[in-house]
Amino acid sequence: MEASTIAQVGAPVLQAVAEPVLQFDEPLHALVERMQMIMQEANGVGIAAPQIFESLRVIIIASRPSERYPDAPMMAPMVLINPELIAYSEEMVLGWEGCLSVPDLRGEVKRHQWVLAKYQDIYGQPHQQKLQGFVARIFQHELDHLNGYTFLDRISDEQALLTTSEWLQQS
Ligand code: NI
Repeated sequence: MEASTIAQVGAPVLQAVAEPVLQFDEPLHALVERMQMIMQEANGVGIAAPQIFESLRVIIIASRPSERYPDAPMMAPMVLINPELIAYSEEMVLGWEGCLSVPDLRGEVKRHQWVLAKYQDIYGQPHQQKLQGFVARIFQHELDHLNGYTFLDRISDEQALLTTSEWLQQS
């Protein structure tokens, strides 16, 4: 995989508000397939379309245990088109995040413990689902990408930011 496949922090496409998806057609399905392939090759647990230079409101959540996230639950990948956050817990939890667009850094980020997500599937059918814990964290991280933010924008001064090697040593 070429490094240029994935937009890196600072790229304008990662700072833009992504456009809603209006057509649930073959080009959308091809985009979702491309996102899935790139996410898997990069060993990610989620991806947003702007990360592959498509400014559209499409995200994939694909939690599974890995070296980076040993406690992550296993799930079938979920494709969310035009995702919205319609309710969330007051309880916030602190947890470590990385990002395919932020090479070699891990940060501690506060996220809602659960969220109620509204979205459409690749055929345009509406859905609502409550997501919890690490899966809710991925949702919030990917939704941020659609609104021009990375996890670096969510880190306050008192929260930790480490390089991946520092992070692997302390965990
Ligand atoms: Ni990310």
